[in-house]
Formats: sequence, structure tokens, C-alpha cells
Amino acid sequence: MSCNWFQGRPDVMAPAQPVEIESIDRDRFFGPENYEAEDGLRDAVNAALLLDQPLLLTGEPGTGKTQLAEKLALELAFPLFKFETKSTSVAQDLFYTFDHVGRFQTAQVSKDAAALHASNFIDFGALGKAVVQSLQAAEARALFPAGNLPAWYSGPGRAVVLIDEIDKAPSDLPNDALNEIERHYFRIRELQGGLEVKAAARQRPVLVITSNSEKQLPDAFLRRCIFYHLQPIGHERLRRIALRRLAALQVQSGPLLEDALQLFFDLRKPEYDLRKRPSTAEFLSFVAALSREPGALPEQALQPAHARRVLATLVKAPEDQTVAARHSMIAAASR
Ligand SMILES: Nc1ncnc2c1ncn2[C@@H]1O[C@H](COP(=O)(O)OP(=O)(O)OP(=O)(O)O)[C@@H](O)[C@H]1O
Ligand SMILES: [Mg+2]
Repeated sequence: MSCNWFQGRPDVMAPAQPVEIESIDRDRFFGPENYEAEDGLRDAVNAALLLDQPLLLTGEPGTGKTQLAEKLALELAFPLFKFETKSTSVAQDLFYTFDHVGRFQTAQVSKDAAALHASNFIDFGALGKAVVQSLQAAEARALFPAGNLPAWYSGPGRAVVLIDEIDKAPSDLPNDALNEIERHYFRIRELQGGLEVKAAARQRPVLVITSNSEKQLPDAFLRRCIFYHLQPIGHERLRRIALRRLAALQVQSGPLLEDALQLFFDLRKPEYDLRKRPSTAEFLSFVAALSREPGALPEQALQPAHARRVLATLVKAPEDQTVAARHSMIAAASR
């Protein structure tokens, strides 16, 4: 995919000679295929798999919490069901929501028992889908209108469920879902006077829960999880990850990448005291943008002018941008 460079000048409307750039294929560059889990994280995942317990991940934004779930699903060849937590989420949303208004409206215009059947008004949430996914097709059919299985059902089998950013939810949510999460079941009140749907043994969902802080989570919830905190990334691993991701763009390594790494790790030093330290994700954006920067060649050192033009990918506060711009000039001058 390519598009025109934005020029931002009052005289430029539709440029006579547009300057085209090849934009970054985000899915290819940032995708989970090239995710590399650190050893401790790999061990925590395996402990969670072994014990059938949820894995709770914390860590700074951009350290790879969400993408771990995507990589896990990819590697185990399980479908991934995602629950994106909102400030209004309640425990039941993890399993299903019921459209009471829709059913009421349908009842105004129809007396058809099939049209009014409760299964027409159920929308399964991520964990609900994963539990249904574990069931034999014959059993799962009972939950759907006219026994028609939905497109997302590919069971019987296991699935990865990502409950992303659980700390966004009201504090009741983790407590309210404790038993259901632990025992992989839920109850649909509107079906058959309260139908219990329970994951088939050996086909239980693999649950990954992310949070930007473990502080708000109740001890009873933490007790049921395998916990792993992602530490900020080290130099060698970040180089490896960046190299693999740049290779997907057919970009070579060289002094440019080494200087970019140095700038990144310098900026993370306590003495710069950045309001928001850049993360793995921001570094990858920085090198991806640099790879498209005219004149920034992989085999040459990083020039301050090039660094400054793509600095907005790396630092996210006004005072941090000033520090980073100054630092990139000092680093270049001292080479
Ligand atoms: N270990 C890793 N290996 C490869 N890429 C990584 C790794 N960690 C992070 N990334 C890159 O960083 C990006 C952001 O990761 P992700 O969205 O998982 O972070 P996060 O911890 O969930 O952040 P947030 O808390 O802001 O949601 C990913 O798209 C990926 O490109
Ligand atoms: Mg995330």
C-alpha cells in the first residue's frame, strides 16, 4: 500500500507531482508471528497450561501483554476470543449478554414461539464462546436458534481467551466471576430456567488476563491465577525482535539500528527522568518509521535530523520530546 506524503503547506492541495511513500504493513510488521516470549513468561504460560489456571500478566504499556495471547493462540492453533474490558463491564459480559429490549419488541409484533425463543437474544462473550467451543456440536446446538451453530464455533476443542485490561473494569468484576473462571462454567438464566453450560474436561479454555496494575485485583482472584510481571525489555532481546520484524519489511540491519537501540536505552535511563519511558512497541514504531525516512540508510549512523523527524513515535510528552531531541543531537556529536 502506498500514499502521498503530507506536506501541510497552504499552497499544496492536490500536488501536481505527489511524493509517494510505501506505508508500513502493520499486520506484517507488528503481527504476533514474530513475538518472542522471554524465558520467565514462557515458563509461566506452561505452568498455566499444566494447571489449567488463568495467566495474569502485568507490565508497562507496550511490553507485549496482549500480543502474548495472540501468539499463544497462533502457536497452539486454538481460536482466540478477546474480551476488551470497559469501565462498564460486568462479570456476566464475559459469558453472554441478553437483549431484553429486543425480545420485548419482538413480543409486540410476533407470537411465533421460535422467533421469541430466548436463544435468539443471546450474544456470547469471549469466555462464553470458549466454553461453548469445548462442547460437542450436538450439545452446543441446544444453545442456538433452530440448532444452527454460529460461524465462530469450530469445536469441539480448546480456545485461548484474552480478558484484556481487566483493571479497567469496576472492582466487582473479578470477584463476581471467581468461581466461573476457576471452574469454567456459567449459567444462562434465560434458557430452561437457568441452564448451566460447563466446559468439557480436557477442552477447557486457556485464559490470559492482562492488567496494567495488579493492585486493584482482590487477593482471592490473584490466588487463582498464575502471575507474571513483564519486565522492561533488555538490549539483546530488543535487537533480536527488531531485526526479525525489520526483516519482514526487507530492511537490513546495521549502524542505524544500533544507534536507534542506544538512543532508546539511553532515554530509558533514570537520569533523563522521562514522564513516559518508551516501550518495546514504541521502539518498533520508531525503527519502522526510520526505515521509511528518506536518506536514513541502515548502513549509516543515525542522524539527529532523521531521529527528530520520527521522534514522535518514541516519546509522548512535550517535555520528553525536548529531552529526546537534545539527546539525539548530543549522541550524534559525541560519535
Ligand atoms: N516480546 C515481544 N516480541 C515481539 N514483539 C513485541 C514483544 N513485546 C511487544 N512487542 C511489540 O509491541 C507491540 C505492543 O504489544 P502489546 O500490545 O502486546 O503490549 P501491551 O503490553 O498489551 O500494551 P498495553 O498495556 O498498552 O495494552 C506488539 O504489537 C509487538 O509488535
Ligand atoms: Mg494490551
